[in-house]
Amino acid sequence: MSSKPRIGIILSTTRETRFADRPAQWVLDIARARGDADYEIVDLRDYPMPLFEAAMSPGYAPIEHEVTKRWAAKINELDGYIFITAEYNHSITGALKNALDHVYHEPKRKPAAFVGYGGVGGARAVEQLRLILIELQMAPTRSAVHVGMEPMLGMLRNGKDFGDYDYLGASVGPMLDELLWWTRVLKAGRDDAALAQAA
Ligand SMILES: Cc1cc2nc3c(=O)[nH]c(=O)nc-3n(C[C@H](O)[C@H](O)[C@H](O)COP(=O)(O)O)c2cc1C
Repeated sequence: MSSKPRIGIILSTTRETRFADRPAQWVLDIARARGDADYEIVDLRDYPMPLFEAAMSPGYAPIEHEVTKRWAAKINELDGYIFITAEYNHSITGALKNALDHVYHEPKRKPAAFVGYGGVGGARAVEQLRLILIELQMAPTRSAVHVGMEPMLGMLRNGKDFGDYDYLGASVGPMLDELLWWTRVLKAGRDDAALAQAA
């Protein structure tokens, strides 16, 4: 098995005609070409969990629901995350918030980076997501990629692709550099803490 860190690229939307697949695949291709981590797509469609209905926060008791357990296990096995962040009513999607409410210990002390898309590049949703992740004791990166409405419409209506927007491609590298720095540092910290606990 590879000893590289594992990074999940998490899609935040589930609707049939979503745009999300395009930025997710674009970032996956760029990231995989770097060879510095094992990158994979994590699609919320594959984790159709109920609206939160557990007796208490997963911080206090694990949630005994088949889909939720699979979701928590996936988040647990990853060392870092890239959220493909849509903006719904100036915030993150309900699907992503619900999914995040179903984990607590699994993403703790792990970093997260962001590819936002929407009117202002999904910036309002990304800012709110950063705050939510801090409560989950995660480390959100400063660097992010913001895909604004002009390139989105260019792709949705005028047959353009990410390759037509050089400035977007140029912003992926710095984001991944920062994410991987935090991924390595926090993984070493978690491993140290686990060793100290076992001693
Ligand atoms: C319920 C809903 C609310 C939206 N609110 C916003 C918004 O606040 N800001 C924005 O930039 N775009 C907003 N949009 C437009 C989305 O940016 C656009 O539909 C985008 O494609 C959504 O991501 P998805 O295709 O992956 O679902 C909204 C779309 C939906 C469906």
